[in-house]
Amino acid sequence: MSNFGAETTADEVLEGKDLTGKLVFITGGASGLGQETARAMAAKGAHIVLCARDQGKLDAAKEAIVADTGSEAVETIVCDLASLDSIRACAKEAGERFDRIDLLINNAGVMACPFAKTADGFEMQFGTNHVGHFLLTNLLVPLVKNGTNPRIVNLSSRGHHIAPVDLDDPNYQNRDYEKWQSYGHSKTANILFAVGLEKRLAPHGIHATALHPGGIHTNLGRHLSEEDAAALLKRIEENSGKAPVFKNIPQGAATTCYAATADELADKGGVYLEDCHIAPVDDEDKEGGVRSYAVDPDIAERLWSLSEEMVGQSFSY
Ligand SMILES: NC(=O)c1ccc[n+]([C@@H]2O[C@H](COP(=O)([O-])OP(=O)(O)OC[C@H]3O[C@@H](n4cnc5c(N)ncnc54)[C@H](OP(=O)(O)O)[C@@H]3O)[C@@H](O)[C@H]2O)c1
Repeated sequence: MSNFGAETTADEVLEGKDLTGKLVFITGGASGLGQETARAMAAKGAHIVLCARDQGKLDAAKEAIVADTGSEAVETIVCDLASLDSIRACAKEAGERFDRIDLLINNAGVMACPFAKTADGFEMQFGTNHVGHFLLTNLLVPLVKNGTNPRIVNLSSRGHHIAPVDLDDPNYQNRDYEKWQSYGHSKTANILFAVGLEKRLAPHGIHATALHPGGIHTNLGRHLSEEDAAALLKRIEENSGKAPVFKNIPQGAATTCYAATADELADKGGVYLEDCHIAPVDDEDKEGGVRSYAVDPDIAERLWSLSEEMVGQSFSY
C-alpha cells in the first residue's frame, strides 16, 4: 500500500524512479493529464510518444515538454480515435517506428458531448473512449509484448458510477441519447477492458489497470454549458455533503504515474485505482470505489466480443 494520496503529484510519485529505457506511448498526450504524465515521465528519462489527433497540438505539447525537462526523447504520432482507419494507420506507423512499448497509457477521452457519430458510425463517447482504444491497444499488443515489465493503463473515471455498460444499444439507436449516461457507460467500459486485457495478457507478463484520476479542471469540460457545470457541481456536493474538491493537473496525473510504475503493482492487474491506491469494489459509496458491474469478468467477456464485432477484427493471445 502506498503512502500517496489525493494530493500527491506526478513528480512525487516518480521521485527516485529511473525510467531511462522505457518507451511510453500516451493517447491524448497533447493536453491536460496526458501531457503532464508525459512531462513527469520524460523528466525521469522515459522516451515519450505523444499520440493525439492534431499535429499542431502535438508539436506545441512536445515543445513545452522539451523546454521543461531538457529531454529530446519526445516524439509525436497522429491518431484520431474516432476513426478506425486512422487507428489502423497509426498502429502500422508505430510498428515501423518503434520496436516496443513498455507503458501504454490509454488517456484520451471526450466527455458529455452532444450526440455525434464517429467516422464508423459509433456514438462518439463510446466510440472514442472505448472502441477506439480497444482497437488501438490490440493492434499495439505486439509492441507491448516486446516491452520490459509492460503495463497498460486505462484512464476511466468515477463517472463510471453513473451507468453500467450498455451492450444492447451502445450507439443509442433505440433510446434517447443522454450525454452523462453515455460518458458513464464508456468509462465503465474502460475498466472492463482492463479486466479483459488482464485475463488475456497476464500470462504474457503484461498487466492492465484502470483508474480515476480525480476531478481536475482541464479541456475535458469543453462541452459543458454553465448550467451543465453548475448541475455537475451540485451533484458532487449532494453526493459528498461538502463542496467539491478539485485536484490540480500535477495531482491529477499522479494516479496514472502510480499505476504505470509502482513496484507493488508489478504483478497486479484488472484492478481500478483512485488517489494512488487500489479502490475497493463498492456498489454504494458515492465518493469512491469501483462498481461491481465494472469488474465483472462475464460482462468483460461480453464487452470484448461486442468490441470485436464493432471493429470487425478478433484478438486472442
Ligand atoms: N479531468 C477530470 O476531471 C477527469 C476526471 C475523470 C476522468 N478523466 C479522464 O482523464 C482522461 C484525460 O482527460 P483530461 O482531463 O486530461 O482532458 P483533456 O485535456 O480534454 O484531454 C483529453 C485528450 O483526449 C483527446 N481526444 C479526444 N478525442 C479524441 C479523438 N477522437 N482522438 C484522439 N484524441 C482525442 C483530446 O484531444 P483534442 O485536444 O484534440 O480534443 C485531448 O488530448 C480522459 O480519459 C478523461 O475521461 C478526467
